[in-house]
Amino acid sequence: MHKDVARILISEQELQKRIRELAEQISSDYEGKKPPIVVGILKGSCFFLTELAKNMNLDVELEFMRVRSYAGENSTGNIQILLDLDRDVSNENILIVEDIVDTGITLKKVKELLGNRCANDIRIAALLNKKERREVEIDADYYGFEIPNEFVVGFGLDYNQKYRNLPYIGVLKEEVYTRQVSKE
Ligand code: IMP
Repeated sequence: MHKDVARILISEQELQKRIRELAEQISSDYEGKKPPIVVGILKGSCFFLTELAKNMNLDVELEFMRVRSYAGENSTGNIQILLDLDRDVSNENILIVEDIVDTGITLKKVKELLGNRCANDIRIAALLNKKERREVEIDADYYGFEIPNEFVVGFGLDYNQKYRNLPYIGVLKEEVYTRQVSKE
């Protein structure tokens, strides 16, 4: 285990098993429908998207967006698009893939944005759900795991761009972020 991780919340094996289940469920839900364009939200969704897409029995297309969310003056917040889709999504089915739903601001805005571009059916698959932290009304259609209100890293999730490559989801030691804050 990494020295900055207090404990492993979800092991590599549990992640693989659950993501395979999700992939099967998603594949059967889209049966007989136009396969979705899978839109991964970078960078956090990279490992989840790879594992999910590999196990989906559908002819999907893969696209990526990179957004940064920041809390605005009101609780709905806002997002900045750092990398946008380079294709038309009108009348397409979209499956947005995200690492975690925390306040919900990012996904709400991304869903609105793709809706405004006339995407047909928009669904969301999120690996983790931190329900307690929700500030806006949004729900994913598929969740991997419900997690407590703790800061987690690994399997794509970072703290200051670090720890994304850990193969498990771990709770970051509190001293790691308090140490960082006191340096500033
Ligand atoms: P939102 O608050 O739901 O808009 O989530 C915004 C982003 O914050 C997510 O896509 C994650 O990248 C990041 N985030 C939220 N909670 C955590 C966490 O516990 N660890 C790492 N990143 C997180």
